[in-house]
Amino acid sequence: MEKKLIGMKKRLTNYGDDDFALFLRKSFIKGFGHNDDALDKPVIGIINTYSDFNSCHGNLNSLVEASKAGVLAAGALPLSFPTISLHESFSFPTSMYLRNLMAMDTEEMMKALPLDACILIGGCDKTVPAQIMGALSANIPFVQLVTGPMSVGSFKGDRVGACTDCRRIWADYRSNNLTNEDVLEASNQLVPTVGTCGVMGTASTMALMVETLGLMVPGGACAPAVSAQRVRISEETGALAVKIANLNHNPRDWLTERSFENALRVLLAVGGSTNGIIHLTAMAGRMGIDLSLDRLDELGRNTPVIVDLKPSGEGYMEDLDKAGGLVRILTEIADLLYLDELTVSGETLNQIIKRTRMSWPQSVVRTRGTPVFDSGGLAVLKGNLAPDGAIIKQSAASSELIIHQGKAVVFDGLADLSNRIDDEDLDVSSKDILVLKNIGPKGAPGMPEAGLIPIPKKLARMGVKDMVRISDGRMSGTASGTIVLHVAPEAAIGGPLNYVKNGDEIYLNVNTRTLKLLVSDEELQVRKKKMPIITTSPKRGYGKLFHEHVMQAPQGVDFDFLKGVDDEDKL
Ligand code: FES
Repeated sequence: MEKKLIGMKKRLTNYGDDDFALFLRKSFIKGFGHNDDALDKPVIGIINTYSDFNSCHGNLNSLVEASKAGVLAAGALPLSFPTISLHESFSFPTSMYLRNLMAMDTEEMMKALPLDACILIGGCDKTVPAQIMGALSANIPFVQLVTGPMSVGSFKGDRVGACTDCRRIWADYRSNNLTNEDVLEASNQLVPTVGTCGVMGTASTMALMVETLGLMVPGGACAPAVSAQRVRISEETGALAVKIANLNHNPRDWLTERSFENALRVLLAVGGSTNGIIHLTAMAGRMGIDLSLDRLDELGRNTPVIVDLKPSGEGYMEDLDKAGGLVRILTEIADLLYLDELTVSGETLNQIIKRTRMSWPQSVVRTRGTPVFDSGGLAVLKGNLAPDGAIIKQSAASSELIIHQGKAVVFDGLADLSNRIDDEDLDVSSKDILVLKNIGPKGAPGMPEAGLIPIPKKLARMGVKDMVRISDGRMSGTASGTIVLHVAPEAAIGGPLNYVKNGDEIYLNVNTRTLKLLVSDEELQVRKKKMPIITTSPKRGYGKLFHEHVMQAPQGVDFDFLKGVDDEDKL
């Protein structure tokens, strides 16, 4: 039987002489001070996504050091390396545009280096899905470590944190209820420490779903970024990485469609980010598993929101951590889950639940009988305006707008929106429906988080807090309102959204999952003929690749050529 290569002997550079390639490799890495003993051990890669532009990863170097300690204590050689780092506020035009690039960077570096297992360290919204998409395609054992949520700040006596409160404070400022000095003071408190946004935004949602998938150490999702617990989890992750390297315990071999359905349940039960469904779909797609919006909606009908965190509820991630974190949630919805699914630790979800005692009283994770919201946080809408589906976060919508008919006030794109939304002459009332086109995957490009169309200033001053808003874009998981997102197909490729005109009536009924443009098919056909779709691809570079290969929201906005499994890649 052929001897399995480990560590430095794997994936030798092609010089046509493997012995020379190993000699050369060892000579170079000895320049770091490693001796031959260390270089004969299994190699655990640690992906370091520290960046001075990314405060969500501000603790990353200390987590790398703690992970290294865990790896060394377990008898392997830890070697860290960088990949792209993405932060929501430092990614032009939008972080989603770069997620697939980060996934490709992760995949190709994991395939290029001599790794027996890899620790992925990320946290900010797009980083964790990008890392897992890449790692699943790279097809070697890996474990995820997140940087953890930031602490909570205080503004005028209220607890605040990025970024539900950022949006609330900005809306108050736009309606003249806060001064310039107020917003300056608030900006000192909204991000009081390093770490990811402290509400149930995309980063928190992803962390909880990834722990549910079994891809991090139990308890790894919620521990605060600034805590000894987060450092201990990092060390534990290092030790676990060595174990999975020795056992070749590769997530691609044990993750199943049921694991992904468990993650969907958790997405719904926590009132998670709408972005969660896009990322989970893209991750599953890398394994050749198709997650459908119809299945998400089906699961949502009997999965109540039980976690009382902003934006659906009131608390912050540090409250959820004190309440027991993910295991408390899994325990409460255990009958809805496939508990025999494996995790990276080798235990099943059932074994983890059984050995974790949750006896203390708390109010963040509600019982099934006293939910925050009766059914799942997300609902899938269909109709002639969104033949392939659209998403609404119903748990964060206004109950009086859940069924609503109104006149469309249409914006053709981001520039048009920014030019006219605050125009005092804009013909708009609080009963109208704001429609924003051309912010889908191809349209913007990159599907920016602009779906939370601002309330026109003249209405905000009158006290209007929410209106029905519809777009083919996304919104931050930290945002709330009656916002219809991810309309597919998007306007830029000729979806019906493209043909909506000012004054058209639109009917929304979340209870019946309906999104209808009340315009006849004949009239829509006439409009289509008059408005042929002309899209121009960038001529070079990543923009060209993105434009030519990005898929729509229901397919996870991944590139078509990255989907599925290619066993030729198994090295
Ligand atoms: Fe990084 Fe919110 S901006 S998690």
